[in-house]
Amino acid sequence: MESIHAQRKNEHLSLAELNFRKNNPVSSLEQMRVIHRPLPEIARIDVDLSVQNPEFAWQYPFYIEAMTGGSEKTGAINQQLARAAAATGIAMAVGSQSIAIKEPEQIQSFSAVRTEYPDGFLIANIGAGHNADHAQQAVDMLQANALEVHVNTVQETVMPEGDESFYWIENIKNIVSKVNVPVIVKEVGFGFDAQTLSELAQMGVQYVNIGGRSGTNFAEIEDRRDRENPYQYQYLYDWGQTTAESLLEAKITDKKPTIFATGGIQTPLDILKAQILGAQTVGIAGHFLHTLLTTGEDGLINEIKLWQRQLVDLYALVGARNATELSQVPYVLNSELKNYYDQRS
Ligand SMILES: Cc1cc2nc3c(=O)[nH]c(=O)nc-3n(C[C@H](O)[C@H](O)[C@H](O)COP(=O)(O)O)c2cc1C
Repeated sequence: MESIHAQRKNEHLSLAELNFRKNNPVSSLEQMRVIHRPLPEIARIDVDLSVQNPEFAWQYPFYIEAMTGGSEKTGAINQQLARAAAATGIAMAVGSQSIAIKEPEQIQSFSAVRTEYPDGFLIANIGAGHNADHAQQAVDMLQANALEVHVNTVQETVMPEGDESFYWIENIKNIVSKVNVPVIVKEVGFGFDAQTLSELAQMGVQYVNIGGRSGTNFAEIEDRRDRENPYQYQYLYDWGQTTAESLLEAKITDKKPTIFATGGIQTPLDILKAQILGAQTVGIAGHFLHTLLTTGEDGLINEIKLWQRQLVDLYALVGARNATELSQVPYVLNSELKNYYDQRS
């Protein structure tokens, strides 16, 4: 019999899939349209999708976002995700490793990812309630190339057994100064605002994943986990900034970390749009989990390869040879998103 914490990991997985099937998420980036220009003067062969920044170079600008590990079942899912990432050469993050710090028998469900993907770019994951020692343990467990520190106040609030204290800034500062890999501060689906982005930049945080709303919804998932009092927090299901809104928040921030995006990405066009709005890389969780669970490991590999090919098509369509040229691509916002932008800028 696994611990209550390990059972929670299994529940997250099955409820996330249920949530995906029920809500059939539509990306908030549907609120933005890229302007079509019929003479892009480019060939597919000219396109370079790679991501270059001072600390790492990736061949593709998207990756498998943090989901799981911490039980036998989720360890097996982690292995399948890692094999799919290895077969396609993309980066991968694991789910929160706090369980493996408390229950060492669960380390294997995370470290197996490194075994499956020895030369891969792997991202460790820990909550902002943890200290720098725990953060370094999470990195070492995976021989990780980077660390995500997740900030998830809404999830903790709705979660029946959630944390009740959110004094996190000192932990984040310590983690950034002590851990020996790049640190990405990440939301889990409720987005970011301009002020927090500039505060994090001042603290020395170099990377933020704005993790916006419009995809996997952890308010709804945690609310459903509370079997005695389900659906008590329905009014929080649309709390927070969407992925599109969060990217606009970053746009109006002068001094900010490098921006990554996740939350509701369903197609390669969503990746392109997130990049046009300023994301350097884009993480996908729910859609890839759904693909894995419904079509298996080979199905997920085929899907990722399709996205890699189609993203080249899309760069060519908008006439962008690389990520830098994407920032010149014209777009329009729909009236709701434009209204948001106007009120916030
Ligand atoms: C089953 C599942 C478990 C997750 N667990 C974590 C986690 O432990 N740590 C974390 O930072 N994010 C976690 N996430 C959030 C994702 O990394 C991502 O930010 C969020 O799901 C939004 O992306 P999506 O719409 O593509 O799913 C989880 C997501 C799923 C689907």
